[in-house]
Amino acid sequence: MGTFLCQMEVFMSKVNVVLGTFFGDEGKGKIIDYLSTNADVSIRCSGGNNAGHTIMVDGKKFAFHLIPSGILNSNTKAIIGNGVVIDPKVLIEEINTLQNAGFSTDNLFISNKAHIIMPYHIVLDRLLEENRGANKIGTTARGIGPAYCDKFERSGIRIEDFVTPKFCDIARINIENKNRIFASFGYKPLDADAIISEYEEYAKFLAPFVKDTINIIHKSLEENKNVLCEGAQATLLDIDFGTYPFVTSSNPTIGGVCTGTGVGAKDIGEVYGVLKAYSSKVGEGPFLTEQDNEIGDTIRELGHEYGTTTKRPRRCGWLDLVALKYSCRINGLTGLAINHLDTIGKLDKIKLCVNYIHNGKVSMDFSTNPTYISNCKPVYEEFEGNFGDLSNIKKREDLPKNAQIYLNRIEDVVKVPIKFIGTGPDRNNMIIC
Ligand code: GDP
Ligand code: IMO
Ligand code: MG
Repeated sequence: MGTFLCQMEVFMSKVNVVLGTFFGDEGKGKIIDYLSTNADVSIRCSGGNNAGHTIMVDGKKFAFHLIPSGILNSNTKAIIGNGVVIDPKVLIEEINTLQNAGFSTDNLFISNKAHIIMPYHIVLDRLLEENRGANKIGTTARGIGPAYCDKFERSGIRIEDFVTPKFCDIARINIENKNRIFASFGYKPLDADAIISEYEEYAKFLAPFVKDTINIIHKSLEENKNVLCEGAQATLLDIDFGTYPFVTSSNPTIGGVCTGTGVGAKDIGEVYGVLKAYSSKVGEGPFLTEQDNEIGDTIRELGHEYGTTTKRPRRCGWLDLVALKYSCRINGLTGLAINHLDTIGKLDKIKLCVNYIHNGKVSMDFSTNPTYISNCKPVYEEFEGNFGDLSNIKKREDLPKNAQIYLNRIEDVVKVPIKFIGTGPDRNNMIIC
């Protein structure tokens, strides 16, 4: 019996995970797209359509907000996990876009436990932001925060209720309650009947995709299948570990993989942390290595740093290895995926933040505490740029010497191996180490 159990363990596969290490938009979609060519299952575990994951295939651009990027491979089961909040309208648009581009969506499954974003969440997101004035967070205004609030307050609408007649009653009570709040903002009430009849149509469309995805995931692991999890957002946007309150309302870090999919800690395999060879951020909040100057503007233009979801210009700066080390610690990263080496390599000189000076002392400790951050000064090392055209290089050792020196220094400091290097936006512009 004991031997038999041991053998079962051996033949079960693990979930490989792709997570953002900084403020999002590091190129997670591209890494997932590469990994999902061999994946049987690809799962989104948290966030909603605040995410925008871009994939370039032969010059054609795909932007995913809710559906796991692995959907492009028809052999991969694409699962929207229970930790995701779903705007049904956006999901239906995404399904239609894929179908019109000739992709099958028969391989899409939506967790019965995921929650839906209702119109009142979007209104509330906007009203709360307006009310914050100068202290605004800079949310994507997609209703993410209010939808997660309702989930935890237990008045949220799960997909499994959305697709049954129960939806009508729950939605009506919620809309009446939210209208009372809107009145206090002087905002006009929402029309419950109109919303319910519109959303019942969405529910009919989505019903065939709804499954108990936990069973699908665990059966796949027991059958030794290749299972991938696509994180959204990133470590410094995490509700617990990010730069609160300038964060999103979920856990985009490793814990969110377990709670957002239903897999256990022992089921986690490789944990890849995605970063850019520089840093970027949308929205407000501290960003120590930001270059709010000509350098930042140059990086923004070279890297086309404009949001996939909101089109906002992204704030840009140097790579911060103290923050990266924090991300390695929080997530237990087993490998790094560094994108945009081509972009940073277009500069003559590149800076890398290798530690901080905190109250006059050298420190490798990151903290999201605002007082701590305001007392830290980044310490930079300077590197030679001008890497030249990297797009066809397939081996790390074939990279120009300056690029190798830059990458080696990153590994040296954070002590996590680089497994993938992005040399351009296309699927093929990648070095596998
Ligand atoms: P995600 O949210 O983490 O999936 O990242 P986004 O898709 O929001 O933003 C990453 C952007 O960088 C997209 O426009 C990608 O096409 C692009 N990209 C990803 N990797 C590379 C790379 O190695 N080089 C260049 N030049 N662009 C890249
Ligand atoms: P991907 O998956 C970058 C940011 C917003 C804002 C904060 C809170 O593409 O990396 P929210 O609407 O979530 O309440 O906004 O979080 N944000 C992201 N920034 N990439 C994302 O996702 C983001 N998702 C949320 O800009 O600062
Ligand atoms: Mg993005």
